[in-house]
Amino acid sequence: MPESRRQQVLDCLRQFESPNVTYLPSDSQWPMVWNRARGMEVWDVEGNTFMDFTAAFGVAAAGHAAPAVVRAGRAQMGCLLHAMGDVHPHPLKGELARRLSDLTFGRWTESGVKTHGKVVFCNSGFESIEVALKTACQATGRDRVLGFSGAYHGLGYGALVTTHRSHFRGRFGQQLAHFADWVDFPEAEDALARVRSCLEERLMRGGYGAILVEPVQGRGGIRVPPPGFLSLLRELCDAHGTLLIVDEVFTGFGRTGKWFACEHDRVVPDLICLGKALTGGFPLSAMVGEAALMDRAWPKSSGEAIHTSTYLGHPVGCAMALAQLEILERRRLVERSRRMGEYFLRSLRESTLGDQSGVSLRGRGLMVGIEFRDHQCQPDSRLSLQLLEDLLEQGYIVLPDGDQGQVIGLTPPLIVSKSQISSFVCVLEELYQRAIAS
Ligand SMILES: Cc1ncc(COP(=O)(O)O)c(C=O)c1O
Repeated sequence: MPESRRQQVLDCLRQFESPNVTYLPSDSQWPMVWNRARGMEVWDVEGNTFMDFTAAFGVAAAGHAAPAVVRAGRAQMGCLLHAMGDVHPHPLKGELARRLSDLTFGRWTESGVKTHGKVVFCNSGFESIEVALKTACQATGRDRVLGFSGAYHGLGYGALVTTHRSHFRGRFGQQLAHFADWVDFPEAEDALARVRSCLEERLMRGGYGAILVEPVQGRGGIRVPPPGFLSLLRELCDAHGTLLIVDEVFTGFGRTGKWFACEHDRVVPDLICLGKALTGGFPLSAMVGEAALMDRAWPKSSGEAIHTSTYLGHPVGCAMALAQLEILERRRLVERSRRMGEYFLRSLRESTLGDQSGVSLRGRGLMVGIEFRDHQCQPDSRLSLQLLEDLLEQGYIVLPDGDQGQVIGLTPPLIVSKSQISSFVCVLEELYQRAIAS
């Protein structure tokens, strides 16, 4: 029998891609091979249809290939495909910088004062973290950074220092700088006092230029901190002259039901890192800092920027981002994320999963997690990974999160409907019953 298109693609990857990139188990329907995607739907190379409950790592917030975003990208490609990052700019770079400033510091008021933001454009989420780390170092003259257990800030050699999970650092730990320390990420209100004392103890020692935090941990297992956590960080940062960096690469642009997740606690950070949903599908990210701080931290360019890259502020990415932000606003997708997220969590809680002792359900907006534990209360990644594969067979794309993959992470496009959520919950319920019976 001739090989299927899917098999041809996977064989090609087996032969020519580095072995540690795509997970290619034998005798499995994992992975599916993408051909086309629109809205919530994805078609594979064999013509099968899938519902994407990941928004492809949170990128497709307005749905896959939102027509206005595609149109903007296409038009820009036909006009100007590449400009000169930090040297000769193009108009959209300034326009998007202003839009990001308006959406962040322009909307936030701290101590009754409104300011604005200044932006550094980058190519991927991890690079925006690295720019924030550099900014903190420049602004405070201090080298160390405090982060949290379970943190994921990306895998570049700078960001990796702050990513907590040892799996990613592995052998490279020998080469990496060691400027980060971690404190336990709190998941309950009664953990806050301990977090306060651990942070205070570290900050008193001095040398910390920044606290770096995900307002909701994504890859760490959709971990939602208790109310008051970010305000505590703000208070401690203010007391010790330390900068508060929020990593909103995943949570930004409505994912948690607010434009930015730090807004749930009404906390204004010093620096915010953005990526993923910014463009809906083009590798463009950004770090936005409060304007006066950025002016203090960075000298005016004398012709050779201290941080830049070839593709900085790519015109196609900027055009797509402006279109994507316009859709998020016009279609009120941020508010929709809040409503649909509540519906999602309520549906899960009212399903048979809701009263299982080994299942923990949590989330904020359309960032929902289901954690599985066995009888000894240990992470049950066997069950979660089984469900992941079963869901794929039933036409649902979902991802594992948590340090052992024991959490099913659900971050669908913000356009997901109630009926799509209900159907998903029904299928999951059935698969779960089947899995625990076997
Ligand atoms: C919170 C957070 N920060 C940073 C990153 C890194 O982004 P990228 O993979 O675009 O480098 C990710 C990626 O998942 C993330 O979830």
